Amino acid sequence: MKLHQSILSFLSILSIASVLALPIKTRKPMIIPQPQKIEIKKGNFLIDDKTVILVTKETKKTGKYLANELKSLTGLSLPVENCSTGKNVILLKLKADDKFGDEGYQLLSSPEKILILANKPAGLFYGCQSLKQLLLPGNSADHGAGVQHNLARTSSSAINIEWTVPCVNIYDKPRFKWRGLMLDSCRHFFDVKFVKEFIDLMAMYKFNTFHWHLTEDQGWRIEIKKYPKLTEVGAWRKEKDGKKYGGFYTRNQIREIVKYAADRHITIIPEIEMPGHSSAAIASYPKLSCSGKPIEVPAVWGIKRDVYCAGKDSTFEFLENVLSEVIELFPGKFIHIGGDECPKANWKKCPKCQARIKKEKLKDERELQSYFIKRIEKFINKKNKRLIGWDEILEGGLAPNAAVMSWRGINGGIIAAKAGHDVVMSPTSYCYFDYNQTTRTPIEKVYKFEPVPKELSKSEAKHILGGQGNLWTEHIPTPDIAEKMLYPRACALAEKLWSPKNCESFENFKKRLDANLKRLDSLNVNYYHDISSH
Ligand code: ACM
Ligand code: ZN
Repeated sequence: MKLHQSILSFLSILSIASVLALPIKTRKPMIIPQPQKIEIKKGNFLIDDKTVILVTKETKKTGKYLANELKSLTGLSLPVENCSTGKNVILLKLKADDKFGDEGYQLLSSPEKILILANKPAGLFYGCQSLKQLLLPGNSADHGAGVQHNLARTSSSAINIEWTVPCVNIYDKPRFKWRGLMLDSCRHFFDVKFVKEFIDLMAMYKFNTFHWHLTEDQGWRIEIKKYPKLTEVGAWRKEKDGKKYGGFYTRNQIREIVKYAADRHITIIPEIEMPGHSSAAIASYPKLSCSGKPIEVPAVWGIKRDVYCAGKDSTFEFLENVLSEVIELFPGKFIHIGGDECPKANWKKCPKCQARIKKEKLKDERELQSYFIKRIEKFINKKNKRLIGWDEILEGGLAPNAAVMSWRGINGGIIAAKAGHDVVMSPTSYCYFDYNQTTRTPIEKVYKFEPVPKELSKSEAKHILGGQGNLWTEHIPTPDIAEKMLYPRACALAEKLWSPKNCESFENFKKRLDANLKRLDSLNVNYYHDISSH
């Protein structure tokens, strides 16, 4: 995908669509995720080279972002000015009003102006995303109220196309506060450019949480100052054909991506896997395992026997040092510690692990895993952060303040929520975007995802923070394939996490999706095309 680099192909789609647009009919906004309320009014606002974006001190950053986005979309360079009234303006304004919460907004468009109001900058940002979608080429195919869209006027901009926004009154806010996507950068490595594109697409669909899987058996991807071998050794594997494969993000690159995401109101949750999925760390520092024997970074997928030794205090010292550096780089509240798929065979044989079980009066290796997570949680909490892990962290007793990411179905999430723990729902059956989208998880199935299980009472349901789609990349070696697995399924998930419960039918969603796919075409996103049969 070359984001923002294909204005011309976008415009050619647009002008063909525009010529085909006659006769004119009433235009419907085609926004994904569907806003809470939309009132459609008569007329359009015309964005041209005289349009000005008006901001205040607090809204200037969002105004500049919008100006950049509109430039990419339309070719028009709109000035951003400090002012609060005028005609032919797009006005971004903060207004203290609790009804918007942290992320809600109102978008009011009339022929004279567009007003986006919100309580917080995140809300304004989402208002801007909706505004951008009102400019979709797909929308222009059925533009209303007398505005023609083919080369109708000359302007000082290089591109002679009229850009209109239908007059609407949108009031919108999200259903859930955790609207996540996960990228596994370990099984295959994705460069900074792709990670930024991944984030841009997330922002377009109002996702706010990027769970970044950074350590694995097959590769350690984050530079840690204190342990240079993690990236000198652990970031590289020898493939079956003998070729070296790998890569990692430097601390500066991580900082750059964290800022890029924050500018788009996306929090990054780093995942540092433990006690399992840790072969790359063990290949770098063999003493971390029970046997201490040297191993290679594995190049074959699957669950590996070598895991961190839970009996050695030096393991915890290492992990605490690693987490300290990670915490320094990621300002978000949550740190993901994995916790899934940890084989216990080595712990059963290890004198140090067995001594730990005895000393701590633990029943078995499952309780040893629980001891491991609780000990790490104490450290994370001391640093004023919260721990989240996959639902295996329930085994042997959940750490007191931990949040649970339910992936093996929804049961782990139900148990955790009933016990008063926060939960992110991410069941394989709806949310695993590495699964085949024809045979296993078609978009229609994703659209049936409901993050709040019936089994929960109203107060228990408050613990469901939201949901998340996951992209594991064993079989996803390139950005092109990653996009194909993510989109357009991520659009369906975005609607399930933002819009009111059961607000629209799948048929209605598909109509809006058709318009959005044109937009994804214009951005050269390599989405999966064959969804017509679903
Ligand atoms: C997982 O899919 N192993 C969390
Ligand atoms: Zn051990």
